[in-house]
Amino acid sequence: MKTLLKGGTVVSGTKAVAADVLMENGKILAVEPGIEEEKADVIDVTGRLLFPGFIDAHTHFDLHVAGTVTADDFESGTRAALAGGTTMIIDFATQYQGESLHQALNNWHKKADGNASCDYGFHLAVSDWNQSVSEELDTIVSEGVTSFKLYMTYDEMYMADKKIYQILKRLKEAGGIAGVHCENKGIIEALIEEEKANGNFSVNAHKKTRPAPVEAEAAGRLLKIAQVADCPVIIVHLSSEAGYKEIAYARERGQKVYVETCPQYLIFNEDVYDLPGFEGSKYVISPTIKKESDRQKLWELLKTDQIQTVSTDHCSFTTAQKAAGREDFTKIPNGMPGVEARPALVYSFGVKQNGLTVEQMCRLLSENPAKLYGVYPRKGVIAPGSDADLVVFNPDAKWTMSVDNQVARVDYCPFEGISVEGKAELVFLGGRLAAENGEVLLEKTGAYVARNRPMEIS
Ligand code: URP
Ligand code: ZN
Ligand code: ZN
Repeated sequence: MKTLLKGGTVVSGTKAVAADVLMENGKILAVEPGIEEEKADVIDVTGRLLFPGFIDAHTHFDLHVAGTVTADDFESGTRAALAGGTTMIIDFATQYQGESLHQALNNWHKKADGNASCDYGFHLAVSDWNQSVSEELDTIVSEGVTSFKLYMTYDEMYMADKKIYQILKRLKEAGGIAGVHCENKGIIEALIEEEKANGNFSVNAHKKTRPAPVEAEAAGRLLKIAQVADCPVIIVHLSSEAGYKEIAYARERGQKVYVETCPQYLIFNEDVYDLPGFEGSKYVISPTIKKESDRQKLWELLKTDQIQTVSTDHCSFTTAQKAAGREDFTKIPNGMPGVEARPALVYSFGVKQNGLTVEQMCRLLSENPAKLYGVYPRKGVIAPGSDADLVVFNPDAKWTMSVDNQVARVDYCPFEGISVEGKAELVFLGGRLAAENGEVLLEKTGAYVARNRPMEIS
């Protein structure tokens, strides 16, 4: 059966135009004004924006970390994604010490396959770099895992400069790209020792131990390593103006640097760490949420196209899990949810309040991640031949974010009580209506997507 969406505005990265969309067998057949098709199931989408299904390129589902496991696995995490309009996620398959990349990948397939309600792919987070892992890279890339994550902090994942350089050089040969978590491990450890020596074990010590220079130093160092390796890189979850300055220097010297930020850095400031009681633990993430001036700078960078993607870094823990750090802030598992909230937050705070255009929103949430992570034009655009992953977005819907209306398996919503405008009303995955007004209608029909090499984004 064909489905015809009539009367909407089709948004791409470059324009928003009135057009109808015809879909069949999981693909988009036609996009043009005035399509007539007797045999189609016709849906009136007058007054609605039609976005290509949103892609969240930064999730951590079913991740064993900090002595626990994230509250959301692939079953609940991908349902939450779909409810908010995200039709594809890219999760971090994590290589633990002693494992090959293929072992890590198989582990993540076991977690995800058959459980996902939206489409999914994997990045590989590399923690154990050696000769045999280096030799695996070409196969891994040709098998469809074309992006990698490197951590400049965290004991279990830390990658030293020499190895970062070697990995970037190999990625250049193999045609993959690295997203890097930029924080200076040594400074963080010293600051933690200082806070504890001063008797500060509470949540607000988290922000004191990870100030902006911690991100900036690591970003600057990474970008010089990338310069020597002559390789483009992605800086993931950018949180500070100081970090951005390092990116601007690198771009001035001609380097290709892609940047991702996340809604939490755009909506909150560091005051969240001073909330009463243990409330601030909900925002214990790394990098930390920075100052108000950083928040405003990030919006400016989005508006001027200096940042290419907005992902969530969805890494959820319940309040009971967070409570592990009641007596010692370093034991609070780092991370927060966001996979279902991102589209409405970016529309409401970005398009409605901060001067982003709908085309920019489309680039940040859909087109750019599709290009950077090798799934364009199969995804990231509403065009004939593309997957019929599509969001019918009501720009006028007013609603309030709350744990009571969220799908994610967490007992709190970090955006609780925030009123937003804009909602994913209908979400189509492969041409089938998969979610409606925040309710998931189709479960576990998501498919694994092998990805191509990154496309350059201008
Ligand atoms: O606090 C965070 N962001 N946890 C998830 C892991 C990471 O660093 O991306
Ligand atoms: Zn990270
Ligand atoms: Zn992350």
